[in-house]
Amino acid sequence: MSVVLDVENLKTYFHTEYGLVKAVDGISFNINQGEIIGLVGESGCGKSVSILSVMQLILTPGEIIEGKITFEGKDLRQFEANGPEMRAIRGSKMTMIFQEPMTSLNPVLTIRRQMTEILELHLDMDRASAGERAVELLRMVGVPDAASRIDDYPHQFSGGMRQRVMIAMAISCNPMIIFADEPTTAVDVTTQAQLLELMKDLVTRLNTALIIVTHNLGVVARYAQRIYVMYAGRIVESGPSEEIFDDPQHPYTIGLLNSVPRLGEKHGTRKLVPIYGVPPNLINMPPTCAFLPRCTYKTAQCEKEPWPALRSAGDNRYLSCYVDVRGKQ
Ligand SMILES: Nc1ncnc2c1ncn2[C@@H]1O[C@H](COP(=O)(O)OP(=O)(O)O)[C@@H](O)[C@H]1O
Ligand SMILES: [Mg+2]
Repeated sequence: MSVVLDVENLKTYFHTEYGLVKAVDGISFNINQGEIIGLVGESGCGKSVSILSVMQLILTPGEIIEGKITFEGKDLRQFEANGPEMRAIRGSKMTMIFQEPMTSLNPVLTIRRQMTEILELHLDMDRASAGERAVELLRMVGVPDAASRIDDYPHQFSGGMRQRVMIAMAISCNPMIIFADEPTTAVDVTTQAQLLELMKDLVTRLNTALIIVTHNLGVVARYAQRIYVMYAGRIVESGPSEEIFDDPQHPYTIGLLNSVPRLGEKHGTRKLVPIYGVPPNLINMPPTCAFLPRCTYKTAQCEKEPWPALRSAGDNRYLSCYVDVRGKQ
């Protein structure tokens, strides 16, 4: 299996008037060709900043402080964020599906215009063949009556259909990797499941890597092969989905699993328990584990020692915690 994207010790900080926001503080992750991974954590933990960093889309006052980003064997940080190399990669080899398509689709242009523009720019197609290809792509993502719908404007589509259009655009140039940032948060549960199924089918068929970014561990477990759990700018646990789901070892992961409904689970079969407290302010973080104030497993050691580094915790599993939670749940 070949590694498509390898991120090592990425740090992205924001210089704000209130202080330095360590939004992403030393995360490492990788993804193989055709693989689906989940990047999971509560709002504000640094998920979007992580992927925007990879795509070199961090704007002032943000800055990538440190880290290595290797995409298809190339070190992306050697390229100017807006230089020709990154522009050739972004939107074609590396694409993104956002939470709310209305903000990323242009409301005054037809879907045809928006789709053919990408194909003309990146694949050098002429307008006619780009149009044909765009219709074919809309069919692939299940937009009914694609040949006529292509001349509609974004607002003429339902939320779910707009997401399908976004997915069509994201796969249009045969990307190596797709980032789906909370792609299904704005739609109902049924549509959410359909969209995730669709994405899974497509990336499997096209052998594209997919990173699903979400706050809902219950949703992603079914689709991702591996999961990275993020808290306050760092990865606190990672491993194969099934293991993370069946045998979570970080107290935060346990909290996440207890607080969300899972796809396919009957309503009311399990009591949902929210995680106590709120995520920390990322300015002036204490040196101890960032989850400490919310942790129900903490020990005296946790109060004294620095935030534990990620360590190996079995085959393909990594954990940043001093406590052995097994048997205590
Ligand atoms: N432009 C910015 N200026 C200052 N802080 C920012 C900016 N963008 C993001 N942040 C901070 O970075 C942290 C991580 O944000 P984000 O990656 O968007 O979280 P997530 O996607 O996990 O919800 C948050 O605390 C947020 O306030
Ligand atoms: Mg986000």
